[in-house]
Amino acid sequence: MKSITINTITEAVINHGDRAKTQPRLSEIYSSLIQHLHGFVREVNLTEQELEWGRDFINRASHHTQEIPSGEIHMLTDLLGISELVELLNDTNDSTECNLEGPLYVPNAPQRQMGDRLGIDADGDTLWLSGCVLDLHDRPIANALIDVWQSNSQGLYDIQDPSQPNGNFRGRFQTDVDGKYAFETVVPMGYQVPASGPSGEMLRLLGRHTWRAAHIHFKLSASGYEPLTTQIFIDGDQYLDSDTTFAVRSAIVQLQKHQTSDRSKPVYKTEFNFVLKSIEESINS
Ligand SMILES: [Fe+2]
Repeated sequence: MKSITINTITEAVINHGDRAKTQPRLSEIYSSLIQHLHGFVREVNLTEQELEWGRDFINRASHHTQEIPSGEIHMLTDLLGISELVELLNDTNDSTECNLEGPLYVPNAPQRQMGDRLGIDADGDTLWLSGCVLDLHDRPIANALIDVWQSNSQGLYDIQDPSQPNGNFRGRFQTDVDGKYAFETVVPMGYQVPASGPSGEMLRLLGRHTWRAAHIHFKLSASGYEPLTTQIFIDGDQYLDSDTTFAVRSAIVQLQKHQTSDRSKPVYKTEFNFVLKSIEESINS
């Protein structure tokens, strides 16, 4: 360990101790992380001042804030594309694409019935969303659970907005014997990620905007099937091509506008079918 040089320090760090020999996955991740971190420091010729700035940035990002009580680390991995890269790496590309859960999921959402309205929002345009939950062979999955959550028409989730009741625009539905689901909601609005902290500073310095494209979150589960967490996006949203979490892929729905006689405002309709992979097929693939 004596006589550390610029050429030996990386291997010295990796080989310090027993390289976690009882935990091979940890060893693999640690070794690669050190290689890449040291490679990055070398490539940019990091100065002491820049290192101190980085320490301060990570320190501040991990602190609780009023906007994000759990700190900004989760959001930071989203903004750096790391979260979506992990989704892409783990996507099996046969079921519906998996996607980010995001930091605003709340378990135990209200249980709702087929056709129920998801939330209260006098300003929002009504959206009828329906479809089926299917297996890889286009067969319907009955009694699948669909946990859905979204922002209101102002781009706010209930837990961010004291004017909304708890559980607003959240709900758990069950598919019928034909695998169908249907509910009424409002057209969600895109929103800006919280930007008052260090992550917001980073985006401003990089000339990046803070907008997410309008989307609806889903978690699906059914007995014998792999669970799925995903999002669907609204076609035409101006941030589809530049969502700040890089989450927009192929799950994009087009809204059809309907004028109904008993409503003063238009109603939109769209359909989306979810595809789940059975655990058996997952094991065999
Ligand atoms: Fe969201």
